[in-house]
Amino acid sequence: MFRLDNKVAVITGAGSGIGEQIAVLFAQQGAHVVVADRDETNGRRVVERIGAQALFLPMDVTVSRSVKTGLEQIFERFGQLDILVNNAGVGFVGSVEETPEEEFAHLMGVNVAGVFHGCKHAAPLMLRQGKGNIINIASVAGLVGIPRRFAYCATKGAVIAMTRQMAVDYAKKGLRVNAIAPGTVETPFVESYLQRFHAGEIEQTRAQLHARQPIGRMGRPEEIALMALYLAADESEFVTGSVLVIDGGWTAA
Ligand SMILES: NC(=O)c1ccc[n+]([C@@H]2O[C@H](COP(=O)([O-])OP(=O)(O)OC[C@H]3O[C@@H](n4cnc5c(N)ncnc54)[C@H](O)[C@@H]3O)[C@@H](O)[C@H]2O)c1
Repeated sequence: MFRLDNKVAVITGAGSGIGEQIAVLFAQQGAHVVVADRDETNGRRVVERIGAQALFLPMDVTVSRSVKTGLEQIFERFGQLDILVNNAGVGFVGSVEETPEEEFAHLMGVNVAGVFHGCKHAAPLMLRQGKGNIINIASVAGLVGIPRRFAYCATKGAVIAMTRQMAVDYAKKGLRVNAIAPGTVETPFVESYLQRFHAGEIEQTRAQLHARQPIGRMGRPEEIALMALYLAADESEFVTGSVLVIDGGWTAA
């Protein structure tokens, strides 16, 4: 298994779901992990779950200064910042007509500006040390149109475009930038939109969410974490600007 001994990894949105599993796995593989989340209760729960190799960093990715200050603190404390996983993300169910301006702005703020802020403030620190590794959690929503996911698809398409663009700028400077595009993954994210948008038809909708992957089930956060581990490890040094799809066959169908 790929090792991350003595690497320092900041994972945004690591208080839940995919980010939590990435933090757990990276720590198991030897990294110091920084659980960066705006949700302090869950962030601290994850730190407790991991133990001494983890610390909590309060961060709201929509606020540039919060991200800058947080990343600089980590760099000062450890003298290095090896890996940034831009994982924090939010969703909304609706066609373009059904999407209120404020929801669109909210998703753009977290999913797009959040990734921008992470990369903008990690890049100078990583360039100072001559190497760095950025992993952006996109979605199949950035690759194909999903019914009634207008704002979500827009933001994840932007994540993929930002990933490719930055990979080109930094390829010769020691920084790698890649994205992961998961299909539906069983996390509190899915549970919360089932409650919010499909109350009264939760089980039926959950069955549809399993079925939209040709493999017949949703993914597990642990499966996405293993792909992130590969990208984080030195063994993947030839990989940059890539969008690794993990979707049970969704986009192949
Ligand atoms: N679950 C899925 O089906 C799925 C599929 C594809 C991609 N993704 C993406 O994976 C990522 C993680 O999703 P998840 O399912 O684990 O979600 P989740 O809701 O379980 O966890 C998201 C975490 O992000 C944090 N967060 C939200 N806004 C934040 C902000 N402004 N600043 C800091 N932290 C913030 C939340 O507090 C939470 O801890 C997201 O980018 C999501 O779009 C999820």
